[in-house]
Amino acid sequence: MFSSNDFTMPEHFGDDRWTILHGDVMHIVPHMTRAVFDAVITDPPYASGGASQTAKNRSTTEKYSSLRGDKALPDFDSDQMDQRSWTRWMCEWLQMVRAACKPGAPICLFIDWRQLPSMTDALQWAGWTWRGIAVWDKPSGRPQRGRFRQQAEFIVWGSNGKMPLERNVGCLPGVFRQANPANRIHVTEKPLQLMRDVVQICEPGGRILDPFAGSGTTILAAVQEGYEAVGIELTDAYFQLGTQRVKQALEPQSES
Ligand SMILES: C[S@@+](CC[C@H](N)C(=O)[O-])C[C@H]1O[C@@H](n2cnc3c(N)ncnc32)[C@H](O)[C@@H]1O
Repeated sequence: MFSSNDFTMPEHFGDDRWTILHGDVMHIVPHMTRAVFDAVITDPPYASGGASQTAKNRSTTEKYSSLRGDKALPDFDSDQMDQRSWTRWMCEWLQMVRAACKPGAPICLFIDWRQLPSMTDALQWAGWTWRGIAVWDKPSGRPQRGRFRQQAEFIVWGSNGKMPLERNVGCLPGVFRQANPANRIHVTEKPLQLMRDVVQICEPGGRILDPFAGSGTTILAAVQEGYEAVGIELTDAYFQLGTQRVKQALEPQSES
């Protein structure tokens, strides 16, 4: 998976079906061999959570979780960028991961309504072909008097150039209805079933990259659906939590 001689493999964990690497996407992906991934499915830091920069500068726990004190989940990195820095950063890593993808590989990026326009710009600036937006419909979205319920997040999707219709993938839905996971271990953890449905965009048995693995939901979902999966995670606490979660979930159940 890695081509350059001057690259030292970072801390990592996994088996022959999955790996999560501990480090920064910007430092790891440039060393990857070209055209080794069949899909990118990821949920990057949104750098969202408010209308003003002051609101966005709050910790991820303050922005995205109501759990406090002993129950608070660890904060994660890269979520306090201003609008222009975030868009540029998105564009840079999207260019890098495109080089590591095969021609035609699909990409799926989670995002909220606030950052949706910047994300679709970044995807296209990075050379991907933008193909559409699917919806994650969260029935638990907070009702607001006199306003629409904030009930959806979005999956911006595209491909690395042409995406032939003959790919061995059936018709996928454009709306995924799934409640937020109960007992989350990551502040912005995605539902496992949602990710099991989304990874189907990759051809059977392909190799999927999630450069923002968090608690490992995409990695676990991909392996459970028969894919090979590679994740990258920068925040120490989530590298530990994510690798343990995936390992435990995939371990054969011991006989009692
Ligand atoms: C939105 S969360 C992903 C949550 C994940 N989908 C889940 O279900 O647990 C984004 C993750 O990207 C990680 N991250 C932030 N900056 C990063 C970087 N430069 N390289 C790799 N990971 C990064 C954060 O630590 C965070 O855990």
